[in-house]
Amino acid sequence: MEFAREPVLTSALGQLSPTSAKPWRKISELRFKRVQASFKRFRKESKSKSQLMRRRTIAGNWKMYKTAQQTAVFFEQFNPLIEGVGNCEIVIFPVSINIPTAVQATEETAIQIGAQNLFWAREGAYTGETSGEMLHAVGATWVLVGHSERRQYFNESDTDALRKTQAAIEAGLMPIVCVGERLDDHKAGKAGDVLIRQFAGGIAGLTEEQFAKIVVAYEPVWAIGTGQTATPQIASQAHSLIRSEAEKRFGREAAQQLRILYGGSVKPDNIEALIRDPEIDGALVGGASLDPQSFAKIVKAA
Ligand code: 13P
Repeated sequence: MEFAREPVLTSALGQLSPTSAKPWRKISELRFKRVQASFKRFRKESKSKSQLMRRRTIAGNWKMYKTAQQTAVFFEQFNPLIEGVGNCEIVIFPVSINIPTAVQATEETAIQIGAQNLFWAREGAYTGETSGEMLHAVGATWVLVGHSERRQYFNESDTDALRKTQAAIEAGLMPIVCVGERLDDHKAGKAGDVLIRQFAGGIAGLTEEQFAKIVVAYEPVWAIGTGQTATPQIASQAHSLIRSEAEKRFGREAAQQLRILYGGSVKPDNIEALIRDPEIDGALVGGASLDPQSFAKIVKAA
């Protein structure tokens, strides 16, 4: 049985509405109309198939790459390549200080911009940190939470992920909560245990209302930046496990609506096989999102 699934764009639309925009945040009406048109098209197409499918999302995590100028150049080249493409949502996560440049460069497109991290407090004496509200104020609408590189190099825990996810939702950002096992766990056949633990510590503490506002990314650490992508079968099994944990905690309908992206060495030549699997709702792309041509190929194949 298929469940009605409310695409994330519903809430993104709320944030993009010119009437609700904060005075200091300039979002052109044209951009709003384009996003709205793509959303309406999606609703119509989905309904005509007498079901509302999970909307695909292709996201590019740029990590600590590209200056402001390189960010602008990327969009000059990328925007024309994906003009008229409406098969999926496109989100780019540049370096935080380049978010305003990216927002400006995508103003007349349906591309959405996100941050790679946020802090859970709204403001305060937290040197070097940025709050969700501050990111939202410069035009970000998404944020990554609990990426394995944050866990590895900055000691972030599942509890941090939970607090940051709650803060993101509070600020009107759509969090992509990242989970995934390390190579040693993978080799020891403990991937499932890790995912269950990360779900319990980082996601299960959300309310049902909060859970409806997140996207999850399964990113096996052994596949990140290694060129060794998980097979569609491995990814699909992991996604099913996450969905079954979601079902136990939040119920079947909520679990069916949850979008789960795959990340780890996604490239133009493996996206088709991955996205064909009904459990894989999109991709979180690292290295291959830095090049406009290769990222456009991935977007078009999704
Ligand atoms: P790569 O695509 O470079 O393996 O990176 C994946 C990733 O970490 C996305 O968040």
